[in-house]
Amino acid sequence: MTQQALFIIFGGTGDLAYRKLYPSLFRLYEKGYLKDNFAVIGTARRPWTNDHYHEVVMNAIADDGHESERTNSEIARKFASHFYYQSHNVNDTEHYVALRKLADKLDEKYDLNGNRIYYLAMAPRFFGTIAGHLKSEKLITDHGYNRLIIEKPFGRDFKTAKELNDDISSAFSEDQIYRIDHYLGKEAVQSIAALRFGNSIIESLWNKEHIDNIQITLAESLGVEERAGYYETAGALRDMVQNHILQIISLLTMQKPSEYTAKELRDRKVEALENIKVYSPEEASKNFVRGQYDEDADHEQSDYRHEEGTDEQSQIETFVAGKLETTNGDLSGVPIYIRTGKRLARKLTQINIVFKDTTDNIFKAVGDQDTNLVQNVLTLYVEPDQGYQLDLNVKNGNQGYGIMPIHLEYHKTAAEKAKVPEAYEKLIHDALDGNRTNFAHWHEVAQAWRIVDVVRQNWDSQKADFPNYISGTMGPKASQELLARDHRTWIFGA
Ligand code: BG6
Repeated sequence: MTQQALFIIFGGTGDLAYRKLYPSLFRLYEKGYLKDNFAVIGTARRPWTNDHYHEVVMNAIADDGHESERTNSEIARKFASHFYYQSHNVNDTEHYVALRKLADKLDEKYDLNGNRIYYLAMAPRFFGTIAGHLKSEKLITDHGYNRLIIEKPFGRDFKTAKELNDDISSAFSEDQIYRIDHYLGKEAVQSIAALRFGNSIIESLWNKEHIDNIQITLAESLGVEERAGYYETAGALRDMVQNHILQIISLLTMQKPSEYTAKELRDRKVEALENIKVYSPEEASKNFVRGQYDEDADHEQSDYRHEEGTDEQSQIETFVAGKLETTNGDLSGVPIYIRTGKRLARKLTQINIVFKDTTDNIFKAVGDQDTNLVQNVLTLYVEPDQGYQLDLNVKNGNQGYGIMPIHLEYHKTAAEKAKVPEAYEKLIHDALDGNRTNFAHWHEVAQAWRIVDVVRQNWDSQKADFPNYISGTMGPKASQELLARDHRTWIFGA
């Protein structure tokens, strides 16, 4: 259904808007989901003209992989003509008055029914100020909908997250707030619920009687790139674990929703996160390891401490591995091993569900062939591959009786993958629809902070021995040891 809405993007000159928002809006436009009745106001401090803004938007579309003929085409030009630039200082009340006038004018011109989406694509320290001014200067309409989309980081710990939430809650109610976690927009992450609850064979095995452990790997091959300013204040725990990994854990461990609706899903996810054990400092130190990348083996890539903008003595971790567990429900006590880091062997996100060994191997006595049974592992490939793999044991094809492992695999083809809407496109589409299924609720964010805060505080009180892993490997030795001590290994080696 075609939508009517005004987007006001704070941070309109920024990287996120350029790389993700403008291309996503364009794809929604191409698909007819946005047509004549939409407009975008981009704001930031720089004094851009509308013409310059249009050029930027067209370049963003071109850089996103659309051929230049197409971006210079009638459709791209027409799309860009819906964009308006307004130079804006977020602390200046007068500027909000000007913004309101422009917003009202565009509302009338494009017949937008008072529907507004405020997208805060900028540093969180401004969120409260912006939300407060949107209310006091009456940008929030009393007809139509008003939705606030915010990007992470949502605070630095529970305390600052709560302050931030209180600030924005003074102007927007929870059901108007859309907290983006772009992993929730990924096809394979959204597919977890379908896999678990759409297949009785999987559903019936999804419990502590059958699952030995769960492994979640979010590996990146790139280093910190140009983001040292932010990363030095964050680190891998805040950057990836507090949000993306804990969201994935909530989808893997939640009880079955009675129906697939935003409210049911959210309630089950909140419960799931509340069931994750919050460690004591001693437990955190036993169950979490950190790392920071050194040069690569050929000395071609710099170590973290010599990247531009980092501290030469930086204590920031670029790698985290940990063991978590849920204390309630069907998976109670099943270890959940997590791992994420920069400059690892390759870019890959995957989830491995490792099933328990068959208790008695009846083939052992059969003869002289290999009758070992491998563990059944169900792998969910999230990226760059999208697909599934199930490792099974079958007869080996020889005379007599031997066993061999096989993999049942499904991978999306390149053509199929190309058709899957990109995460931001999906999430913006959902926000226009008023569908909050794939956005993080405050209670989820809050609980996720409680889980990671203990680990953070523990690390902050002790000096780390960094750097401790070579770029291009799968992290420090301690990450292997974390599993070895439980007599396990990472399913994805390198
Ligand atoms: C972001 C982090 O949330 O996720 C980045 O801030 C990280 O540091 C990125 O690189 C990874 O996302 P993706 O979609 O490339 O796996």
